Amino acid sequence: MTQANGWKIVFIDDEEDIRQISQMTLEDAGYEVHTAPDGKSGIELCEKISPQIVITDIRMPNMDGLQVLETVKTRFPDMEVIVATAYGEMNLAIRALQLDASDFITKPINSEALHLALNRARQRYTSRKQLLDYTALLEREKAETSQELVKILSFQKNLIESSIDGILGCDEEDRIVIYNRSMERFLGYSKKEVLRKFSLSRFFASGGPEQLKAALKSERYGGKGRLYLYETEILAKDGHRIPVQVSGTELTDQGETSGFVFFFRDIREMRNLEREMADQARILHQDKMMSLGRLAASVVHEINNPLSGILNYLRLMIRILDKGPVTGEHLEKFRRYLDLVERETSRCSYIISNLLSFSRKSAPSFEPVSIDELLNRCITLSRHKLDLSNITLQPSIEEGLPPVLGDINQLQQALINLIFNAVDAMPDGGTLSLSARFNSKESQILITVKDTGVGIRKEDLSHIFEPFFTTKKEGYGVGLGLSTVYGIVQNHKGTIDVESTPGEGTAFFLRFPPVDTPSAIREAGGC
Ligand SMILES: Nc1ncnc2c1ncn2[C@@H]1O[C@H](COP(=O)(O)OP(=O)(O)OP(=O)(O)O)[C@@H](O)[C@H]1O
Ligand SMILES: [Mg+2]
Repeated sequence: MTQANGWKIVFIDDEEDIRQISQMTLEDAGYEVHTAPDGKSGIELCEKISPQIVITDIRMPNMDGLQVLETVKTRFPDMEVIVATAYGEMNLAIRALQLDASDFITKPINSEALHLALNRARQRYTSRKQLLDYTALLEREKAETSQELVKILSFQKNLIESSIDGILGCDEEDRIVIYNRSMERFLGYSKKEVLRKFSLSRFFASGGPEQLKAALKSERYGGKGRLYLYETEILAKDGHRIPVQVSGTELTDQGETSGFVFFFRDIREMRNLEREMADQARILHQDKMMSLGRLAASVVHEINNPLSGILNYLRLMIRILDKGPVTGEHLEKFRRYLDLVERETSRCSYIISNLLSFSRKSAPSFEPVSIDELLNRCITLSRHKLDLSNITLQPSIEEGLPPVLGDINQLQQALINLIFNAVDAMPDGGTLSLSARFNSKESQILITVKDTGVGIRKEDLSHIFEPFFTTKKEGYGVGLGLSTVYGIVQNHKGTIDVESTPGEGTAFFLRFPPVDTPSAIREAGGC
């Protein structure tokens, strides 16, 4: 295999001898050679076999070599053309080179000169091909890169436009260059009004931009050149001042400030929520204090009985001691009395500590609460009131109930509110059922407080959880009990429902997730 392998030549000359000799020489050198006697058939051959090189005589009848050269270069620009001129036809040779011939040889054709010209033509062909391939590659890459860029840009634009936060960008002269849809909604100015027309100062009260930039440059809000959760106000089109939380960055180009970009979050909603929460907390506390007052009255009776018992036994013992020496029989009695005194004292202490923990204004602390303990506490605290009102208590607490994640004092407050409402609803006595069971299908603990009282009118049912809704006479009810219950139940990720038939009674159903469901633990903050 020679170097010329794979190279095809079309050789055009009107003299047959020259065609034959040249074909032989070139084929010996390894070229694939096709000959043609005139320009027209030469061009046809080029079309058919696509040679890399064409060698053409200049002087030919009909279509001369220069015409062949021009036609080849127009129709097959990749092909190299060598022209053969007679000695002394330098002007034709020059013209051929001007028409982009790769070389010229003089006739009679000297084989060494022919090979040299062919080598140069091959080199030219190869370099041009490489250049073309390279250019094509560059073009392809350029196209891909621009496509990629377009994609990135449109993605970024989308990102900016669809952001819930208002985004504002300005150049080094403070002219606004980014202003997204949220910003439009936020301030009431359209993009058209703002972009490249407004400067940053337009959105702030005087001194605002300077303060913002000073904050940006300081270390205080997330580091130099960055601003994180800085609170300020911006001015809407209608003159309103909107409280916002700003995050921002200084943009730099080769160490120089080239602009700023800011992200604004409207914090009006947040402020409202904070206010609402504070209100709720206040109502909760107010209600607690009121139920505390009612509880205290009830508890006084509850404690009075054991206390008078204790006093009686102590007085009895003192009298026995006063009468003279203590006999073994007396000691026996003393032991019995002291047992009773101890039992009654611890009962009092239990009631008082319940009341104390209930009244303490402590932040709710969530921990597993035993339902059994919760209901028993409520029963102890309300028993006397129930007895006085001639109400029979029917407790039914399923054994082995899983605990609820919650604050026992809040839960107790909720149940006491329900029990006291039930008592109020049964002025002539009745039955109060207090039950707790586990609904395994729903994986919920269900606590029911049911009475046989007057019931709730249909038109009142949808209002009973509203704060200050009451049907009670002035001085008997404020209407905060159920709204507090509702808040507490919600706090515990629970639900509350009511069923009532006027004249027959009312039942409240409280449902809570048990503590061992992972979601309950997660939602309560991973306690
Ligand atoms: N068990 C019940 N039976 C009948 N009506 C009830 C019952 N529980 C609540 N209600 C009705 O719902 C209203 C609102 O109850 P809520 O506990 O919120 O306030 P209140 O008991 O009137 O006053 P407060 O509890 O603040 O002293 C009551 O006034 C009453 O009309
Ligand atoms: Mg009430």
